Amino acid sequence: MNDVIICRCEGVRLSEIEQAIREGASAVPGVKKRTRAGMGPCQGRVCQRVVLQLLQQPPSEAGESPDALQRSRSPVRPTLLGDL
Ligand code: FES
Repeated sequence: MNDVIICRCEGVRLSEIEQAIREGASAVPGVKKRTRAGMGPCQGRVCQRVVLQLLQQPPSEAGESPDALQRSRSPVRPTLLGDL
């Protein structure tokens, strides 16, 4: 069951995210750096909620609040050169 794909854009599986958390990722940016989850074209709009839930599952060794876990940037959307 750990082979479920969480981030469809980057093909990141649940087991990879759990491994990143075990290795010390305590917030979304840490999971991103280790797995690339949230770095695809949708910029985490699909997968970030699941990553947050995984980070908040007890025991939360980091003890950080949910707001501290999510340090995301505004979504980036492709822009046509003609629109500029
Ligand atoms: S599903 Fe993860 S970045 Fe799009």
